[in-house]
Amino acid sequence: MKETEPIKVMTEGHNMKSYAKACENFDWRDMEKAFSWYETGKVNAAYEAIDRHVDSGKGDKTALLYSDPKREERYSFREMKEQSDRFGNVLKKLGIQKGDRVFIFMPRTPELYFSFLGILKVGAIAGPLFEAFMEAAIRDRLEDSEAVALVTTPQLLSRVPHKELPALKHIILVGEGELDEGFYQLEEGFCSFRKEMAEASTELEMEWVDREDGMLIHYTSGSTGKPKGVFHVHNAMLQHYQTGKWVLDLKEDDIYWCTADPGWVTGTSYGIFAPWLNGVTNVIRGGRFSPEDWYGTLEKNGVTVWYSAPTAFRMLMGAGADVVKQFDLSKLRHLLSVGEPLNPEVVRWGLETYGKRIHDNWWMTETGGILISNYPAMEVKPGSMGKPFPGVKAAIIDDQGNELPPMRMGNLAIRTPWPSMMRKIWKNEAKYSEYFRIPGWYISGDSAYRDEDGYFWFQGRIDDVINTSGERVGPFEVESKLVEHPAIAEAGVIGKPDPVRGEIIKAFISLRKGHEPSDELKEQIRVFVKEGLAAHAAPREIEFKDKLPKTRSGKIMRRVLKAWELDLPTGDLSTMED
Ligand code: WTA
Repeated sequence: MKETEPIKVMTEGHNMKSYAKACENFDWRDMEKAFSWYETGKVNAAYEAIDRHVDSGKGDKTALLYSDPKREERYSFREMKEQSDRFGNVLKKLGIQKGDRVFIFMPRTPELYFSFLGILKVGAIAGPLFEAFMEAAIRDRLEDSEAVALVTTPQLLSRVPHKELPALKHIILVGEGELDEGFYQLEEGFCSFRKEMAEASTELEMEWVDREDGMLIHYTSGSTGKPKGVFHVHNAMLQHYQTGKWVLDLKEDDIYWCTADPGWVTGTSYGIFAPWLNGVTNVIRGGRFSPEDWYGTLEKNGVTVWYSAPTAFRMLMGAGADVVKQFDLSKLRHLLSVGEPLNPEVVRWGLETYGKRIHDNWWMTETGGILISNYPAMEVKPGSMGKPFPGVKAAIIDDQGNELPPMRMGNLAIRTPWPSMMRKIWKNEAKYSEYFRIPGWYISGDSAYRDEDGYFWFQGRIDDVINTSGERVGPFEVESKLVEHPAIAEAGVIGKPDPVRGEIIKAFISLRKGHEPSDELKEQIRVFVKEGLAAHAAPREIEFKDKLPKTRSGKIMRRVLKAWELDLPTGDLSTMED
């Protein structure tokens, strides 16, 4: 990316007055004082996010401003406490204990948030699943985590192969049709959310846990193998809280909207914890993306701080400035973006259109919280991810672990540890240790460089992980699904650059004998992946090949596919079979 003129400081009054000052004498232990456990010694992130505000007299303040095309609801911190207490009691009645995995597979509605908080309150580990997942994706995750309970809707139930999941004992049905007799008469282990909640007490005996006890698992993709269960602990709240203050710049009166779904890490760290740990009103919008809907959400709720993603900003840019003019966005104070590279032209467009800078920041499912960012009180360099969060050391290192000087490209690495760092990959020690193969460092898998002023610039992934519309997709998962199709002999999947989505998924496919390439077959294959795995994992482009490039040990060489696609040199082919 080209370097361009930095955009200077535009407004005053930020929580972080000066980046340099914030870095001086920074100590995470100072942040602990914000939490009640600093004095009580009793830890639970859900308590700190919700109940603490009730106990300190802010119970009537609005915590959740929910809307979708059918519902519009508002819940105070007190109501959030009551609802999550109720749900905790529902779980207790089912015998759910500390450390049990309880998964949530449902669209964004208030019940999702009550459930999530209730799970934490009983000391169980929450596993939110993106609602677009299909059966194979759901099976992999529930099987690996050995989830004992699942909160889902009657509509999504057909994607849950519950009879094949021996660990799964309870299914809590929520939403339209949940009271239908059928579920409960036929099967043991089903219960109705509404019915159980109505009977449960609004006073829960909180499970106090240790800071290092499990809180959350997010499954994410690597370039090989099945999705990995990234395991986070209650201690992560330190980072959620402080990045909420300094990066999101959250203040008492803010109306905050994070557009991410809790099935992805941004939707929990910054869609649940950061705003509520800071006692801020959180906007949740259900339903689908459209420019009118999103601008309408900003206007109607008077959103002041808005956290979204490059693909969304690019789509809004595509929709044009005329749409923007129909809405009153004057309350907007602070804009942020994460998940994929944010093009400098989008930042400049944002400045022209909204009159505000979009602050790019960088982190990963594994890091649990923001590690590099552009801060409100700092010059923004369009195209750069910004500077390390105070107390965090980021560096560019080579494969031996040597730190590289400015302007040299290498592995983006972070000095271990930091409060929200993942504590394990669920049941996969080997995968976990790959991240820490160089002593003292977490290796992100991204390549980047640092400029003379200390700003970091993203260059790409080192592995084959695809980032499409900000969603991380593992090529192996898609390839595995593809070869289940009866016409497909072999498949190789790559990310192909795309102006709006960042990357799209492209599949190279060789067919079994007796099958001929055709557009109908392409469409059939797309639907096959869409219905088997997830819509966002389906290849937008398919190319048939007689043969795919493979190593002598039979591994598809995605690097060669990518070089073909981009018209680049294929590099060293010595390991390729003839
Ligand atoms: C990419 C999302 C460029 C990166 C929070 C990283 C980014 C992966 C940025 C993590 C950014 C994230 N600029 N690329 N500002 N932020 N990425 O786990 O490749 O879904 O490794 O976490 O997204 O994606 P994940």
